[in-house]
Amino acid sequence: MQYNFDEIIDRRGTGSLKWHYSDDTIPLWVADMDFKAAQPILDSVQRVIDHGILGYTKPTRALYEAIINWHGSRYDLQLARDNILFSPGVVPSLALMMQIFTEVGDAVLVNDPIYTPFMTKVQQNKRTLVMSALKEVDGKYQLDLTDIEAKIVEHKVKLYLLCNPHNPGGRVWTADELKALLALCKKHNVAIVSDEIHQDLTLTGHTFTPFLKLAEAAGYEHKVVSLTSMTKTFNVAGIKGSMIFAKDETLIKKISQQQHLNDEYELNLFAYTVMQSAYEEGGEWLEQVLAYIENNIEITLDFLAGHLPDIKVMRPEASYLIWLDCSAYGDDDQALYDKLREAKVELNAGIKYGNEGHLKMRLNVACPKSLLIEGLNRIHSALHSTP
Ligand SMILES: Cc1ncc(COP(=O)(O)O)c(C=O)c1O
Repeated sequence: MQYNFDEIIDRRGTGSLKWHYSDDTIPLWVADMDFKAAQPILDSVQRVIDHGILGYTKPTRALYEAIINWHGSRYDLQLARDNILFSPGVVPSLALMMQIFTEVGDAVLVNDPIYTPFMTKVQQNKRTLVMSALKEVDGKYQLDLTDIEAKIVEHKVKLYLLCNPHNPGGRVWTADELKALLALCKKHNVAIVSDEIHQDLTLTGHTFTPFLKLAEAAGYEHKVVSLTSMTKTFNVAGIKGSMIFAKDETLIKKISQQQHLNDEYELNLFAYTVMQSAYEEGGEWLEQVLAYIENNIEITLDFLAGHLPDIKVMRPEASYLIWLDCSAYGDDDQALYDKLREAKVELNAGIKYGNEGHLKMRLNVACPKSLLIEGLNRIHSALHSTP
């Protein structure tokens, strides 16, 4: 079927995190799309409702098969049922991984900038946060392997939290970059947890490589876990639900035992239902939404080049988040954010993603075109008069 992503669906008054305003502000912030979910997903939820029984539910063989087939056919990641655990979310899993691979006080390395919970979960779990700034080369981020190795040695880092594809910079790390990182971590016996929640939103011309695949080839799977979910891919974040993949038997048993300590290893009926229908039947919607997003990215890049040429734009390789260097338009993070809010458009303040986010903003373009264009006009009106 043909989806209509131009349709504007009023989300105000639904408890939506993104649309929390009492006025007509346009939200171009949190990673949530303003598009209706795929019809097969909605139908699967409807079937549960029509059945009328909402009792205790286990993951079925069909669900495992759907997950295994999706990752096998798209990424050549060969999973067995025993490699898969369920978790209420990728962020809860990040916290869990701290308990698996580290003790209180141990150093955990993350990149700067990085999706905020990477930093907060380390700190809240009383581990030592160590950050390695990404290098910007020719308008895109690169891992600074020299700095990463120096920090690993200096702080005796136990765990590296990788974000691939990277949020907020939009990089899809290449197999070569990941292999080099893996070799470094292996050399220093550092565990790696790879957050791959944006994997399926990889854009044309780029190839997503599951870290676990490389780890297995390198004989390092006992120190590697990947985390992913259907929620970003299919815009079903309110459903909550994610997966943990690990290939080493002892490691996955340890994770499962830790989950059982808090009795947090199950998803709710709707999460299982949505996960299965998404992976079985969501491909057509995903293909269309990615085409729409790619077009919105082009609209945005053209608009910014024409109207706010001093914004340095990082073209995303995955997802619908665009990282903007607005340093030509202000010298104070809060003032920059406030100026946009006054113009009734909200973006994420880059500084929330680490020091590298100073005077940067993260723009979400996953919304109907007309809303995006109005949002871009508001950004223009807020910033263009800045000296
Ligand atoms: C890199 C990354 N990890 C995790 C999440 C959130 O995952 P969850 O809702 O499953 O906790 C997001 C949401 O934007 C994200 O960008």
